[in-house]
Amino acid sequence: MAKKIAVIGTGYVGLVTSVGLSDFGNYVVGVDINAKIVDKLNGGTPTIFEHGLEEYLQRNLKTKRLSFTTDIDSALKSAEIVFLAVGTPPKDDGSADLTQIQTVVQSIAKNINAFQVIVTKSTVPVGTNRWIEKQLTAAAPGKDFAVVSNPEFLREGKAVQDFFHPDRIVLGCESDLAREYMEDVYRALNLIHVPVVWCNLETAELIKYASNAFLATKITYINQMANLAEAVGADIHVVARSMGMDGRISPKFLHPGPGYGGSCFPKDTKAIAATGDEFGVDMSVIKEVVRANEKQKARVADRLAFLTGTVKGKTICVLGLAFKAETDDVRESPALTIVERLLELGAVIHAHDPEAMANFRFYLGEQPGDQIRYFDTSLEAAVGADALLIVTEWNEYRNLDLESIRERMRGDVIYDTRNVLDADKARDLGFTYAGIGRS
Ligand SMILES: NC(=O)c1ccc[n+]([C@@H]2O[C@H](COP(=O)([O-])OP(=O)(O)OC[C@H]3O[C@@H](n4cnc5c(N)ncnc54)[C@H](O)[C@@H]3O)[C@@H](O)[C@H]2O)c1
Repeated sequence: MAKKIAVIGTGYVGLVTSVGLSDFGNYVVGVDINAKIVDKLNGGTPTIFEHGLEEYLQRNLKTKRLSFTTDIDSALKSAEIVFLAVGTPPKDDGSADLTQIQTVVQSIAKNINAFQVIVTKSTVPVGTNRWIEKQLTAAAPGKDFAVVSNPEFLREGKAVQDFFHPDRIVLGCESDLAREYMEDVYRALNLIHVPVVWCNLETAELIKYASNAFLATKITYINQMANLAEAVGADIHVVARSMGMDGRISPKFLHPGPGYGGSCFPKDTKAIAATGDEFGVDMSVIKEVVRANEKQKARVADRLAFLTGTVKGKTICVLGLAFKAETDDVRESPALTIVERLLELGAVIHAHDPEAMANFRFYLGEQPGDQIRYFDTSLEAAVGADALLIVTEWNEYRNLDLESIRERMRGDVIYDTRNVLDADKARDLGFTYAGIGRS
């Protein structure tokens, strides 16, 4: 049976969840403290860039099964199920900052009346859902509720597709009634036989961190192999492809690059390392991954300085600012670290990204003078550049018009940290081309 749902937080996860759950036939109210976000969403305009999102948003608004509000109290009062999708950013010591979760739990305690299922979609450290249970028991004595851990695995850029075709649904759920509710919520996915993993709260929480830390490790591993391939004259793509042919390894996440970024891997690796410290368990592999990833990002600016002689006073055309292709998200993007370092070294930046320029400008902050300029097209950004640096693997960069770029640039260096260009063609056109993991 369709359920009445409140989704608290309408960022990347909360918005896709709101839209997806209403498309499954549920009645969903998305709640955010940011009134501008709420107004825009009620008007049918997505506040993030995700393929297909606008269509799903408008379709479900029209059915009246979906709406957005800043009024958390009224949304909570009428909800049978509450999804928590607020942020859990890192604190200075690497552990997760649960302030936003705590605020929402207080609101839930205040408004709970009939039986309610509280579902945590935000990525939270092991023990948080048990803590939520205790908080609610203390703050709303005698009220009937169940806490469920339902970690989210969507990939930005493919979030809508991942919502409707997930590899699995993980449900840390210890109540029979809550299980019935969750079966109703996700009933539509039975049709495509999506596996559901039922487990306790701690197991569900750990599945999320263990998965993200493993993926970050895989990326870091292939990045270090790429650096070694460069040094010894091997080709990392042939190495990675052959490794991936081994069924035990799989070819996914074996693409070298400038280091992982985004709002998940950097914070989740640090958070699980902090959990290890808290419980006195050795997490040295993950701690080393975090360190190696920082080095990988720093290596890009150093290598560009080597390729150009010096970057001081040089104009660098930076193509790609988002942390990966198909998203406008720049949180912890390698491009932020790289551009900051290049600016420190005295370079002038000509930047382009198809979707992420506004966010990048916001996160980088104002820069003195004309040290960084943003351009609508890659061709415009290339004018007068001494070097071209590709940081994000947008498809449009795979087919750059290198002849026109060559005519517009002052210098001849290309540093392609995603290996998206045809190296031979670039060299034939007179570029000094360097990729990653290829001599
Ligand atoms: N972005 C991803 O790809 C992804 C994937 C899986 C899991 N996660 C996890 O999901 C959670 C959310 O991530 P996100 O990227 O969607 O974050 P986000 O920053 O895009 O969105 C969070 C939203 O919550 C709102 N908010 C904050 N406090 C609120 C409150 N008290 N009441 C109502 N709204 C409030 C904010 O205004 C914001 O719009 C995090 O824990 C993250 O680790 C994210």
